[in-house]
Amino acid sequence: MHHITLDSQTDFDGWRKAARTLALNDVKPSDVSWRVADDDDEPELFEPTAPPLEPPQGTFNVPARFVELAEVAILHRNPERFALLYRLLWRLRTHHDLLELATDPDVAEITAMAKSVRRDEHKMHVFVRFREIGREQKSHFVAWFEPEHHIVELAAPFFARRFADMPWSILTPDLCAHWDGHVVSFTPGVSRSEAPSADRLDEIWRRDYASIFNPARLTVKTRNLQEGSMIKPAVKRAERDATEPYQAPKRPEPPMVRRRVQDDIETLREEAADCRACPLYKNATQTVFGEGRQTARIMLVGEQPGDKEDLAGKPFVGPAGQMLDRALEEAGIDRRTVYVTNAVKHFKFVPRGKVRLHQKPNTPEIKACRQWYERELAAIKPDLVVAMGATAAQSVFGKITPINKNRGHPIDLADGTRALVTVHPSYLLRLPDADAKAREYRRFVQDLKIAAGVLRKSAHAA
Ligand code: URA
Repeated sequence: MHHITLDSQTDFDGWRKAARTLALNDVKPSDVSWRVADDDDEPELFEPTAPPLEPPQGTFNVPARFVELAEVAILHRNPERFALLYRLLWRLRTHHDLLELATDPDVAEITAMAKSVRRDEHKMHVFVRFREIGREQKSHFVAWFEPEHHIVELAAPFFARRFADMPWSILTPDLCAHWDGHVVSFTPGVSRSEAPSADRLDEIWRRDYASIFNPARLTVKTRNLQEGSMIKPAVKRAERDATEPYQAPKRPEPPMVRRRVQDDIETLREEAADCRACPLYKNATQTVFGEGRQTARIMLVGEQPGDKEDLAGKPFVGPAGQMLDRALEEAGIDRRTVYVTNAVKHFKFVPRGKVRLHQKPNTPEIKACRQWYERELAAIKPDLVVAMGATAAQSVFGKITPINKNRGHPIDLADGTRALVTVHPSYLLRLPDADAKAREYRRFVQDLKIAAGVLRKSAHAA
């Protein structure tokens, strides 16, 4: 029997490394036992321990979808999850399409686990209630939450973004997350027996955590009282603050400690539904978020939803959408395989009688909305982003980017993403001259054919 001990309940990297070594050494799932270092149960000593494994030779591929599922499902509280994941990995080596079999018991179980984790994450986003503490000195906001699964690390970035301006701590029995306005750090959980009433929250906060957010009181003694290395980022930051004036973080996206799991599109869509980052939400019917498969290799970015999109809650369903559909088809791209979104997610308009006249979004609105584009990009990880029109190009490139000067070839962005610039389909609709319209439409299709070519090349390389 091979006894594998993972560092923590959420040690995905540890699981992945062990699973790879086991699989490459042809170790059957029934010959592996999995535990976590802080579990109370010791490995079964009467089971003979297998000799150490050879370092892995060679490699094998699993579908990206499996990695996405596994990263989330591993956060489930079911102790059998590590074994289940390894069994699936083992089976995927000879049955690459296994995940398509929704009725397979292992596939059904892993899918249900991942869903349950996502539901719990959403519950945490919705139900955490902060209480203000220490008003007389420096406010801090503390909340108590008991998650069903190991989701604190998964859920914490949401709170850092939403409550970026206030220092907070979320105490849970598994792990506590802390935000000092700059970085998220984690400390061990608070015991359930201390399950805080409002007053106990205050007390626990003052006793265990207040010092790490108050540099003046950060002495060597208090530092030594803190447990383990997980506290380090917060201490480091506080030490720096003791000598340097505090500087608000420049980037809206906070740096994360131990942030591993990417957002999934459905969670992002739910979050964006409440977006108040700019005033456009006030008059729009709803947030129109991106649409398409999370596994899409091409991401198309437009400007903002129009009248029809605002009512339907879906991007590119009106006249510009029909033009886009036609051009995609001519370029040999199936719309169902791409992810379609907009740089700005709310409809900007001025009412004129019964109609709502489209208004171009301005730079502050584009910037305020860019967080969603960035997070969609991180979730989809496409091979190519196609920026349609000037607003999309501004969002994709992070600066004003002229279309004509840049269209016609893929461009590498600093973060490694490849981008292609082209015109917006609405531009084609507005051209009054029929010849110009036909000519510009052909150029648009030509640009989309370049995108199709990139797609073919990356499919070959995979
Ligand atoms: N124009 C856009 O940029 N996006 C839409 O979704 C519709 C029209």
